[in-house]
Amino acid sequence: MINIIEPRFFEEEKQALLEILESRQITRGKWTQRFQEEFASYLGVEHVYSVCSGTVALFIALKALGVEGQRVVVPALSFMATIDAVLLAGGIPVVVDVDEYYTMDPGQLEDAVKRYRPKVAIAVHLYGQTADMESIMYLSEKYGFYVLEDAAQAHGAEFKGKKAGSIGHMAAFSFYASKNVPMGEGGAIAVKDEKLANEVKKWIDFGEHPAFNVRITEFQAAIGSIQLKYLDERNKARRAWAQIYNQAFKNHFAVPTEREGAYHVYHLYTLRHPERDKIIQDLKRAGIDSRVYYTYLLSELRNAEHLPLDRAEKFRREVFSIPVHPYLTEEQVDYIIQSVLATVEVSAG
Ligand SMILES: Cc1ncc(COP(=O)(O)O)c(C=O)c1O
Repeated sequence: MINIIEPRFFEEEKQALLEILESRQITRGKWTQRFQEEFASYLGVEHVYSVCSGTVALFIALKALGVEGQRVVVPALSFMATIDAVLLAGGIPVVVDVDEYYTMDPGQLEDAVKRYRPKVAIAVHLYGQTADMESIMYLSEKYGFYVLEDAAQAHGAEFKGKKAGSIGHMAAFSFYASKNVPMGEGGAIAVKDEKLANEVKKWIDFGEHPAFNVRITEFQAAIGSIQLKYLDERNKARRAWAQIYNQAFKNHFAVPTEREGAYHVYHLYTLRHPERDKIIQDLKRAGIDSRVYYTYLLSELRNAEHLPLDRAEKFRREVFSIPVHPYLTEEQVDYIIQSVLATVEVSAG
């Protein structure tokens, strides 16, 4: 089976884990400190706080922004954590449609803002490409709401020269095993503003109000720190496969396109085709792992208020993702291309 997701670890990670075991400093040590500093400087933000998951990062960011009893706009297409964090933080979600790049449609965001006066909009950088942050930040200033980036799938992505996670007021990352920076489990909150950083800290250092323990161990931080060193090079490899796929598939499928000014890091390589379910079955038989991100709309999943979701409704019936990880070989990519093309030739005949 060619896996859709494949974290890999090498001698450096092994050495670091051994060193941590021998030091007996297994939590709250130099690796956690180092990882936070390295990731903050990579993103170009003042503060990064590591936490135990992306969901918790979203939750704490929303608490820090004060969404209790307030509307929060989210796009229809994302992992369920995006809307669950809103509900857990006491916010009231409003779901809007996506644009052709699978990210929040700024036109609908404006409609939702006029109608619901939200406190926050969560811009999800789905599949590894940033949302239209220029339009979204413009609306944020015009109407006065916060922008929280859900950058769980977009480590190293950029928009107009700025890193995903450094453009909005705050950002949440995930370091789940499948992500472009994998730790196993883990997350982080990125924040520039001192006042917001202080609100975040109340959820991280105990004392100010009831809070959870959301720390990661030194083992996770070490893996994150080492994986981060290779992020740019591995993202380049993902982009190179995506370019080859685009050439091969553009006449038969809706291929992913890059927004002007965006640097897509292809956390997932996602195609669209009306025969999606059959294609996935054929690929499974050929030994290729192919999956749907996501079959549901967030509004439907949590029965939330929403605007018309025509694009998301169409996309969730047609999208499927194929392996694009940096450890694929040329032979595997050729085999994937032949196999994917064979599925539509068969269905066309
Ligand atoms: C877009 C998005 N948001 C949030 C999350 C939640 O992250 P985690 O699984 O680390 O809680 C994920 C990943 O799982 C995700 O893909």
